[in-house]
Amino acid sequence: MNKKISLTGIKPTGSLHIGNYFGAIKPALELAKEYDARYFIADYHALNTVKNPAELNASIREVAAGWLAAGLDPEGVIFYRQSAIPEVFELATMLMAFTAKGLLNRAHAYKAAVQENSGRGNDPDAGINMGLFTYPVLMAADIILFDSDVVPVGKDQVQHIEMAQDMARSVNANYGQDVLKVPRAAVQESVAVVPGLDGRKMSKSYGNAIPLFAPEKELRKLIMRIVTNSQAMEEPKDPEISQIFLLYKLFASPEEQAALAARYRAGGMGWGEAKEELFRAANRELAPLRERFQEILAGPAVLDRILAAGAEKARPIAAATVKRFRRAAGIDSG
Ligand code: ADP
Ligand code: TRP
Repeated sequence: MNKKISLTGIKPTGSLHIGNYFGAIKPALELAKEYDARYFIADYHALNTVKNPAELNASIREVAAGWLAAGLDPEGVIFYRQSAIPEVFELATMLMAFTAKGLLNRAHAYKAAVQENSGRGNDPDAGINMGLFTYPVLMAADIILFDSDVVPVGKDQVQHIEMAQDMARSVNANYGQDVLKVPRAAVQESVAVVPGLDGRKMSKSYGNAIPLFAPEKELRKLIMRIVTNSQAMEEPKDPEISQIFLLYKLFASPEEQAALAARYRAGGMGWGEAKEELFRAANRELAPLRERFQEILAGPAVLDRILAAGAEKARPIAAATVKRFRRAAGIDSG
């Protein structure tokens, strides 16, 4: 029997952080053990915001090296750059014909930008490019093109997957046949939102991120910057409401978690010590990743070859989907 297909993409808009790792990369690599996995660098998505070519190119390489350093096996997973698959853009154009404008008006990222403009008394669409507005269509094309069954993503992306479902269903309903596969989101609840240094969701755009490949010294410095309350050292502390502990849970075994939780509750442990424990656990997991990452970046030709080989495997699958759709639509006969 054919295995089900898992697909996800990451935008190269800056350095990867711990939220990306636990919210996207790790669950995706876990799924790759069971599913036929197709993972990619969403470089055209990044173009909406990154207009500096050197910066975009560096991010593409970092995100690609990041996936590999985290353990992606390019023999087992089809791993490619979105920009190497021109069929994505054909499918996106076809999907446009099945996408209500009102649906895109309701997309979170666009709505947030409009609200921000309005709040400032500006034209609601000021500074918003069509790339941002049509983003969910391009993302739906990324997903649908590869017959994806599940899409591992963080909670913030669920709306986009629902939109992709909407588009695939409209196409299938119109032609009265299953032209396109309807995908579903796979959100890992336990790591749905990784908190940042200030307690809000960790995000590049909030400046509260811990970069996944930060050198040891910087990692320590950032962890020491995590915002805490003013409870004194002797006071017992509730681990479940401490973001230091939430982050610790990501890196520690259940036994280690139980042991540290007990120390929190007993009192006598200051925040500095809790941070030190977090640093130790984080560095234990991240040090080997960091090393592999540097090695991969140092050999750009190998990285290019891996991505080119991935694109070669991806294109026939993509072409088949576009062909199916074109036929159903009456654009191609036979
Ligand atoms: P950012 O918010 O830093 O710009 P992206 O939007 O590029 O991150 O996210 C890339 C992937 O990582 C997405 O699948 C997203 O859901 C996931 N992700 C990002 N931040 C977090 C977080 N703090 N917790 C869990 N998952 C996250
Ligand atoms: N929109 C996703 C993000 O911001 C990135 C992305 C683009 C993606 N295309 C995708 C994720 C297809 C999953 C599937 O993180």
